Amino acid sequence: MSQGSLQWGGRFRSAPDPALIAFGSSLEDDLLLAAFDIETSRAHVRALLGGAIITGDIAAALDRALDRIVAEIGDGSFAGWAMEEGFEDIHGAIDARVREIDERAGGWLHAGRSRNDQVATTLVLYAAARARDGAAQARGIAAAIAERARAALADEIVLAGTTHGQPGQPILLAFWLQAAAEPFLRVARRFATVAREAMEEMPLGSAALAGSSLPLDRIAAARYLGFARPTRNALDAVGTRDALFACADAWATGCIPAARIAAEVIPWSSPLLSYAKVGDASASGSSLMPQKRNPDIFELVRAGTQSVLADARTAWSASAAVALSYHRDLQECKRRAIAAIEGGSAILAAFERAFADLAFDGAAMENRATLGYTLATDHADALILRGIDARRAHRLVGERVAVAEDQGRPFDASDLQALGAQIGADTFAAPLDARAGVRAKATVGSTSPAAVARALDELESELAALGVPV
Ligand code: ARG
Repeated sequence: MSQGSLQWGGRFRSAPDPALIAFGSSLEDDLLLAAFDIETSRAHVRALLGGAIITGDIAAALDRALDRIVAEIGDGSFAGWAMEEGFEDIHGAIDARVREIDERAGGWLHAGRSRNDQVATTLVLYAAARARDGAAQARGIAAAIAERARAALADEIVLAGTTHGQPGQPILLAFWLQAAAEPFLRVARRFATVAREAMEEMPLGSAALAGSSLPLDRIAAARYLGFARPTRNALDAVGTRDALFACADAWATGCIPAARIAAEVIPWSSPLLSYAKVGDASASGSSLMPQKRNPDIFELVRAGTQSVLADARTAWSASAAVALSYHRDLQECKRRAIAAIEGGSAILAAFERAFADLAFDGAAMENRATLGYTLATDHADALILRGIDARRAHRLVGERVAVAEDQGRPFDASDLQALGAQIGADTFAAPLDARAGVRAKATVGSTSPAAVARALDELESELAALGVPV
């Protein structure tokens, strides 16, 4: 790194140790903030101009230099230059490049600005943008899954819904898909809130920790960036990463539904169950076993989610160790939060593609829908509707299940007859196939085709109405 690239040096007699500069550099991780830092810098130019600290001529020259850097970011040359120069971070790199492009104007860009308020502002802009991306991504996933639910509903595909990993009661595949879509609506809402709240207060103009003696026009800067207002305490502003961490949390927790769906479809895709087939575009083979079709992407979604959760958590906890104001620890927080956000975004993108490539086998599901006596609850419910109290109904059906199980056969009409005899009824009817069981569900939010159709209508209109801030 050339001495001119450094933003300090007057009070030192010799150059910093390059090994320690390298240790302290976050450039590789924060290069992706370049476009946001440019915006922060443009806003600071407005604050300087509004306060008559620089002339219109200097402001225009600074804007031109920043335009040129935008072009260099676009063609990739800026990243190469910054890495070669070995900057501590993207924030210093952009300031140095402005000075290199225009020595006269460049010396004014950092007037009344510290990297502390520069980093804080750039990170808020990044967090808001990535939260908006997240809202759009989560909404897209929910909509795509809801669309598949519609198709499955038309076919009334049934399968054995599980609890504890064991067959519980028959459900519609459409109901399962709707259950898979709902969390992404909530994720999209969380992202939208994060994006909106991020843009409430702008740290820029807080300088190092105490504000500035220069009459910076913070309102002009806030307006330029789209913030509602400037922050009202500089010390708090330079040491706060709430918006960034909230964005990291939203991505990390947003991956959880994807991980849980992955955990379910991995066994579904096994030939032992054959409920689903991982398509050629998303499956991996084995280097040894020629027959293999592995669900690797879903496994990576599952495992990667643990990593992004850990990154988001580490970002928060590293900040919990430091006093108010800016401390270099916050650079580590930045790295971990960016890792959570970018990692989470890669996970959701991969999940979306792999899920779209997953084909369901309705016949395989239907074949096993009543395995494990999944209609027993419906039989007990039918007894209750005939005036038998719930405890007795449960016991009577349980006893018949034990008989059928001992005889190694499914529940059949003879069992219904026996139950009828026990309650002194001539006839006793209850569902003996999974589809009839599903259709008999009567509550709002249940797996009956009518309830699922209504739920999908609501889900889709809530998705359409979701306000994603721009
Ligand atoms: N590299 C630091 C970060 O990314 C910014 C430097 C902040 N200020 C300072 N005095 N070291 O968080």
